[in-house]
Amino acid sequence: MSDLAIFPLNAEHKMIRAAARDFAQNEIAPIAAEFDESGEFPHKTIKKMGEMGFMGIEVPEELGGADMDTLSYVLALEEICKADAAHGVIMSVNNSLYAHGLLKFGTDAQKKKFLTPIASGNVVGAYSLTEPMSGSDAGTMKSRATKDGEFYILNGRKSWVTSGPVAGLVIVFMVTDPEKKQRGISAFVVDANTPGFTRGKKEPKLGIRASATSELLFENCRIPIENRIGNEGDGFKIAMTVLDAGRIGIGAQALGIAEAAYEAARQYASERKAFGQSIGAFQGTGFKIADMKTRIEASRLLIYNAAMAKERAKTTGERFSMEASMAKLFASETAMFCAHHAVQIHGGMGYSKELPVERYFRDAKITEIYEGTSEIQRMVISRAELGFK
Ligand code: CAA
Repeated sequence: MSDLAIFPLNAEHKMIRAAARDFAQNEIAPIAAEFDESGEFPHKTIKKMGEMGFMGIEVPEELGGADMDTLSYVLALEEICKADAAHGVIMSVNNSLYAHGLLKFGTDAQKKKFLTPIASGNVVGAYSLTEPMSGSDAGTMKSRATKDGEFYILNGRKSWVTSGPVAGLVIVFMVTDPEKKQRGISAFVVDANTPGFTRGKKEPKLGIRASATSELLFENCRIPIENRIGNEGDGFKIAMTVLDAGRIGIGAQALGIAEAAYEAARQYASERKAFGQSIGAFQGTGFKIADMKTRIEASRLLIYNAAMAKERAKTTGERFSMEASMAKLFASETAMFCAHHAVQIHGGMGYSKELPVERYFRDAKITEIYEGTSEIQRMVISRAELGFK
């Protein structure tokens, strides 16, 4: 993999990338197929990732995190996803959808209480926005949080929650004032041990099967008022700001999948012979390799650029929605493109469970769907460019 001249990596970046690569190749790659097949949650490796600092990369040291920057996060996540995208999404949600929200909008007391167990990997964090009838149009959610003295009573059904079946802490978005639409949504942290909180059935999925996804049910779930993040009515903006960070993570996940698929295809194209020569010597294969490599390097530029924009935003407070959406859009379509070509180049072997190529193909698809579909990313980018709402 190339080091890009316009993104010179410092010693810390190189160190975390090497550590993540070693861990991913030695501890995750050997078990990825087995966990994909069983759909079992990889508790042991996730715990080890916490011990290595991968579950709270940007969380300050005093809260148990690694205290590193966004580029470090992206570099580590890319390496984990080259070995297994399921481990990658658990790491991504923990770091960006969960930890970033609390880091940016939480009080000191909330950070101490709700970030420390997550950053160490002892507890898994989740983010819960979507509902059965409210996906891309997230502002139309129906779940209600009603104030009752020093408490809120939560009621509703949330769906498609990554790590929902195992999370110990969940950031959830609910309506506090239905009259105000998006401006009547608030954000809360819920401890999974709270009475009235239950988990729905685990979703059977096409890919990222070792990550666990489920509905979350809230039935008169009573939480203290100090679990609200930000003010009443800030929830939608918090959800969107956090998704901007999340989309950079999914971009990095997609880049990892694309690179794994590409590397397998490149090797196979140079080794496999047909009609008296390596199949890579046929233009039909060689040009696929060229297009895959070019799109991967373009994705990398967009992702690292978005990571730098997010890093800059820590001091300027500027939004980085465009950079994040462009990175996620391009990288996820690149993951699909590369996985598709990798299967084709491998022929029958690409369709076989004996090689990981078919898993890359199944895992790539979700990157075009979650944390905002490709259509939503195009909506964000075109609205910003054209000024329409
Ligand atoms: N940052 C900060 N504020 C933002 C923002 C952002 N990125 N995007 C919008 N806002 C603000 C707007 O400025 C506006 O503020 P005002 O009320 O002050 O004017 C307010 O939020 C409403 O914005 P819009 O009118 O643009 O809202 P909209 O209803 O048209 O929706 C959308 C915009 C971009 C389409 C949004 O609904 C969206 O991103 N949808 C996709 C949701 C999504 O990604 N879901 C995935 C969930 S997580 C998941 O996948 C599961 C998992 O566990 C991984």
